[in-house]
Parts: sequence; C-alpha cells; structure tokens
Amino acid sequence: MNQNTKVKLCCCQKMPIIALGVWQSGKDTKQAVLDALKAGYRHIDTAACYGNEEAVGEAVKESGIPREDIFITTKLWNDDIRAGNTRKALLTSLQKLQMDYVDLYLIHWPVEGYVEAYLEMEKLKEEGLVKSIGVSNFRKSHLQNLLSQVHKIPAVNQIEINPQMQDEETIQFCQDNKIVLEAWSPLGSGACLHIPGIQMIADKYHKSTAQIILRWLLQRHIVVLPKSVHKERIEENIDLFDFELTKEEMEIMNALNQNKRTGPDPDHFDF
Ligand code: A2P
Repeated sequence: MNQNTKVKLCCCQKMPIIALGVWQSGKDTKQAVLDALKAGYRHIDTAACYGNEEAVGEAVKESGIPREDIFITTKLWNDDIRAGNTRKALLTSLQKLQMDYVDLYLIHWPVEGYVEAYLEMEKLKEEGLVKSIGVSNFRKSHLQNLLSQVHKIPAVNQIEINPQMQDEETIQFCQDNKIVLEAWSPLGSGACLHIPGIQMIADKYHKSTAQIILRWLLQRHIVVLPKSVHKERIEENIDLFDFELTKEEMEIMNALNQNKRTGPDPDHFDF
C-alpha cells in the first residue's frame, strides 16, 4: 500500500484510496486542491451543496495534470433528488467543474425519491457522463431497500466513520456486498485528534494522531477523505505509508467507538 494505491470498484474502475475532502473549504478550496495535487493526491471529493465545484474545476485545470489522471467525485443534492432533477443537476455540476464526466456520482442523503434518482443515475452511467455511481449516508436499511429496486449495486457508500463513530452494522453490510466504504470526517472534524490512546500510538511511530487515524482506516480497507485547507496538514494526511499498525493497535482503535456522530444521523435529519 502506498499513496498511489487504488481500490477496484464493482464496475472495474479504480479509485485512489485517499481523497482531499473540500466540505467547508470555502474560499480556500482552489488553493487546497492545488496543494493537494502537488502533494500527490489524485482524488478530490466535492458535492453540489458545498458550493465549490467551480473552484475544484479551476484548480484541476490550472494544475496541468491530465483530467484522466484525477478521480473526481461529486454528489446529487437533496432538493434535486426530491424534485426528480437528477440529470439537470448533474449537467449543472459538470458545467461548474468544466468537465465532461465525473468519476463518481453519489446520492448525497437518503431523502424521498432516492430510488428514482439512482435509476436515473444508472442511465447517466450508460451514457458515460459518470463513470461510477454510489450513495452517501446510507445505513444498512437504506441499502437493503435500494438494492431490492435497482439494477446496479452502488460502487461506494460514503458515511461518517472515525474512531468515535463506527456504524459496524452498515460497515459489515457494505463489506459483505463489496460496496467500497469511504469515511467522511475521518478525524471527527478534528474532535478525535486529542484522544489519549491515539496519542500514545502516535508517539510510538513519531506520527500525528491524524496520521494514526487515517492509517487505521486504510488498514480497515476504508477510503479516507480528510479535509484541510493547510498545506502542511494536506501533506501530512497523505504521508501514511512508512509505518503499519499492529493487530493490537488496530483493536485499540476499534474499541474507541462510542457511536457518537459529529454530523447528522441518516435516520433523523431535516434538510
Ligand atoms: P483545517 O482545514 O483548518 O486544516 P475531518 O476531515 O474529519 O472533517 O476533519 C477536518 C478538520 O480537521 C478540519 O478542521 C481541519 O482543519 C482539521 N485537520 C485536518 N487535517 C489535520 C491534521 N493533519 N492535523 C490537525 N488538524 C487537521
């Protein structure tokens, strides 16, 4: 495993195991993406509702790296799911990104209409406007409902996973069904960086707590999407391949679960 390692999705496409997340990156998005691409990231995770697809597109263009060497994810927002606007929303995202396809298109939240939206996304995939399709914030029950009504298994489920939030039921279901897991807020939006047990492991390897958490997720075969707008942290968050956590250390990390979310609960949200 190294920073160029990719995971194979069910549709045979390959996805880099580390992405820069840009939720709440605001006006710093373009520079953060440029810094990430320079540091070696080849996977950027945005969404229509983040309001920064333009900045991501500008940075990709300005980087000079060929489009096909970068994996771009964006997401279909809830209002467009409810309104049945899937195709129109994707075309708007593509225009903002200045791209003619995205590598991965996700249903952002399981709101009413998600099955119909997913069926439309299957068509967009056939047309080549998106290379792979998947979901985000789906728990096991949402996935079971989706799988019973669609033709293609989601390539990915992107959910909140960090030391304090490990929805084992959903994680197990995805791994059993070969749905690749992506962790959003892998650092618990910063809240997991000061856990004493993680600091002890970090001291042993002369790494930061952020690096220990990201490495733990990768060793659990979970793709990570750390967000940062600081160059040094962006570089730090991909520097994960000169050490390996032992089985005992993995168990210590697994045992930190408190089912404590930093973000909304997919079964109870109001947006
Ligand atoms: P910033 O963007 O100011 O660097 P998550 O990815 O779990 O949502 O966490 C993101 C939060 O953690 C952001 O507040 C980000 O701040 C901070 N962060 C990201 N990487 C690091 C790091 N290596 N060390 C400390 N804080 C970090």
